[in-house]
Amino acid sequence: MTLAKGTVSERMGGLGTENAFVVLKEVNDLIAQGKKIMNFCIGQPDFKTPKHICDAAKEAIDNGLHGYTPSSGIPALRKAAAQYFTSTRGLDYTADDIVIACGGKPFIWYTIFAVTDPGKGHEVIFPNPGFPIYESMIKGMGAVPVPLYLREDKNFNFNIGELREKITPRTKLLILNSPHNPTGGVLSKAELEEIADICIKNDIWVYADEVYSNLVFDAPFASIASVPGMKDRTVVVDCASKTYAMTGWRIGYMANTVLAPHITRLVTNSDSCAPHPNQVAVAAALTGPQAEVQEMARIFRERRDIIVPGLNAIPGISCRKPGGAFYVWPNVTDACRLTGCKDSEAFRIRLLYEAGVACLADIHFGPRVPDEGQHIRFSYASSADDIREGLSRIVQFMEKNTA
Ligand SMILES: Cc1ncc(COP(=O)(O)O)c(C=O)c1O
Repeated sequence: MTLAKGTVSERMGGLGTENAFVVLKEVNDLIAQGKKIMNFCIGQPDFKTPKHICDAAKEAIDNGLHGYTPSSGIPALRKAAAQYFTSTRGLDYTADDIVIACGGKPFIWYTIFAVTDPGKGHEVIFPNPGFPIYESMIKGMGAVPVPLYLREDKNFNFNIGELREKITPRTKLLILNSPHNPTGGVLSKAELEEIADICIKNDIWVYADEVYSNLVFDAPFASIASVPGMKDRTVVVDCASKTYAMTGWRIGYMANTVLAPHITRLVTNSDSCAPHPNQVAVAAALTGPQAEVQEMARIFRERRDIIVPGLNAIPGISCRKPGGAFYVWPNVTDACRLTGCKDSEAFRIRLLYEAGVACLADIHFGPRVPDEGQHIRFSYASSADDIREGLSRIVQFMEKNTA
């Protein structure tokens, strides 16, 4: 049957996607053909979920904990998440402030849905480059996306002056992401205080995407929610995905006193609840030993300290040392010129097909920032040996192809 033209909504046309999944399919197709690919394109830890967490899930299933739960989450997990946010952000949250969802991602649209109205010109400021779902969901919800450019000379943070310029009477929400995907940039306490001042003066909500909060390498983690006056206007979001190597378990948690009941209603309308055994497992994760989390962070830091100097030793590539997450965002403007690639996407494709090295290009994280050159993203959630092999393949590729 052919459906009538216009059957699909106009808003579907505005909805973006996460190209990491598209490139991952490309990579997996090559692997299926027997190619040995060094894969740096996917943002998920390569570790196993710690055993005590898996055991808690198995026990939950054996004990029949497989039914619907309250949409806000099981009391044990809400309490554990409240304690987690309280102790890590230095604030006083209770279980009533917490909502559990299927990963950190759904809170992006829940929050935009909860604080903007479609077609009213409500503006949402978001980081560019950035996690592609921000712009996608802003458009999908009928709000107006306002990109805030991240600058290499600011260690991939934005100019506070530029933030001030972007704020209008229609600005409803500012999305922050620290540590940041794709650059690994981290907002300092001093920067967060300046941003907080602007948000308070202009009465703006903040979405603090802190899913990489446990992967900060050079300074203690700082949340904008902890700045005096910010707790009530900040939706703090964290998840089990990156911290406990649980991407496929799909459990995230948010804290905000005002929005918690509204976001609970959104969960009722969408997923009903997050999977019951997985909620039990994450309660065990948050209340159990954290030694494996610290060990994973130590290993990620070690890998960062291999990949950054390795990339900087390659002619045509320069790479800043990121403070967090497991991403690097090297500048490949000269490498593109040297190899005759028209841009970072052409360079990425040649790295994949000619060198067997998979990464993402800047265009997978929004339009390129004007005057900031060409970048690619490596996720170093791969073993140190694979990182060294990947680097050596890029060196050979550059040697072979430099005019
Ligand atoms: C910045 C950012 N926010 C949210 C998410 C989504 O996390 P989850 O897998 O828990 O939904 C990701 C995943 O890559 C991310 O990079």
